[in-house]
Amino acid sequence: MAKTSPKRRKTDKPKASMATRAIHAGEDRRKFADSLTTPIIQTSTFTFKNSKEIEDYTRSGKGHYEYGRYGNPTATIAEQRLADLEGAEDCVVFSSGMSAITTTILSLVQSGDHIVITDDSYKKTLEFCRSYLKQFSIACTIVGFGDYDALEKAIRPNTRFIFSESPTNPYLNIFDLFKISKIAERHGVLTLIDSTFATPYNQRPLEFGMDLVLQSCTKYLAGHNDILAGAVLGRFDLVDKIRNLHKSMGGTIDPHCCYLLLRGLKTFAIRVAQQNETALAVARHLEGHPKIKQVYYPFLESHPHYKVATEQMAGGGGVVTFTTKGTLTGAKRFLDALKLCYIGPSLGGVETLITHPALVSYYNYSRKERYDLGITDTLFRLAVGLEDVEDIIADLERGLKQL
Ligand SMILES: Cc1ncc(COP(=O)(O)O)c(C=O)c1O
Repeated sequence: MAKTSPKRRKTDKPKASMATRAIHAGEDRRKFADSLTTPIIQTSTFTFKNSKEIEDYTRSGKGHYEYGRYGNPTATIAEQRLADLEGAEDCVVFSSGMSAITTTILSLVQSGDHIVITDDSYKKTLEFCRSYLKQFSIACTIVGFGDYDALEKAIRPNTRFIFSESPTNPYLNIFDLFKISKIAERHGVLTLIDSTFATPYNQRPLEFGMDLVLQSCTKYLAGHNDILAGAVLGRFDLVDKIRNLHKSMGGTIDPHCCYLLLRGLKTFAIRVAQQNETALAVARHLEGHPKIKQVYYPFLESHPHYKVATEQMAGGGGVVTFTTKGTLTGAKRFLDALKLCYIGPSLGGVETLITHPALVSYYNYSRKERYDLGITDTLFRLAVGLEDVEDIIADLERGLKQL
């Protein structure tokens, strides 16, 4: 399918069928040995009956699996289910979100090309674009998030794509997907969006004209903090190119891991719906709290991107970012008093996690470097799980009393 001009401006609420499709899509009703659950085809290689079967397969490239790095039936089902949820023609799953991102980027560029990326993208994605692409003579312009003029001006004749993320970490900035797809269309460049914080439940970027969606399935899609997985989704022609490079790069996901991803996906819609609700309640509780300086949540009216967030997303997601009043010492006391929320750097799982970026992800930055990036001493990112909202709030209150 050729790229179509974006038409839509508003994301519909996920259809009720998303919950159903998250359980059944992309899989035959009758499975191996009449199993109800997805069989895990735990093999590294596949066998052929005879020479004719080999020839039929090599001629068509279809109807058979060959070797685990090139594809596996359990992985195929995960790909088909994710593609269905995202509204994509095709999908490739990877061993991690970063494997999906780096393989996708490398499959779209060659020496002498240029790319544009927004400065609020995931730290390791930025590092890869800024530091490693240089080794292959691929230039990268980093533009300030939300500066659409600078973004357009950064596009050169050799620009291949614009890469961004929405919502972003940790401030949950929202990229206007429609605006960006219009800019890209004017200049004939591709658009790649990391939609991990949103998931297809809250945002389906392909409907806004984005060309490729990247997901760290490690987060909400798998949802249980027990696997690493990634995916790229989009048109057949683009995904095919990425799949080919993936076969050489080898970031292959294990079949058992695919099973865990599929199992997690069964409750995906219901989990994200609840996490939206819990996070909004926590954000509202913290906003205006005497011990809290500021709360950042895209579905709070006070968020700078509230309008675009509520237009292009069905819910604000499960992450709430906030700053406490006081100092780093107080922030540590807050963290140490928590008994329910685990201190840890991920998101999207059933357990509530809280992270203090200054102590974890930016521990090796100077205070000035951190502050330049907005990583202050009292900044926290809370990723709500599925515990009762009252229990999460009570735990936060326990911590806030220590300030
Ligand atoms: C927005 C975003 N994209 C990509 C990644 C990388 O995913 P993974 O950890 O599955 O490699 C992360 C990880 O935290 C992330 O937050």
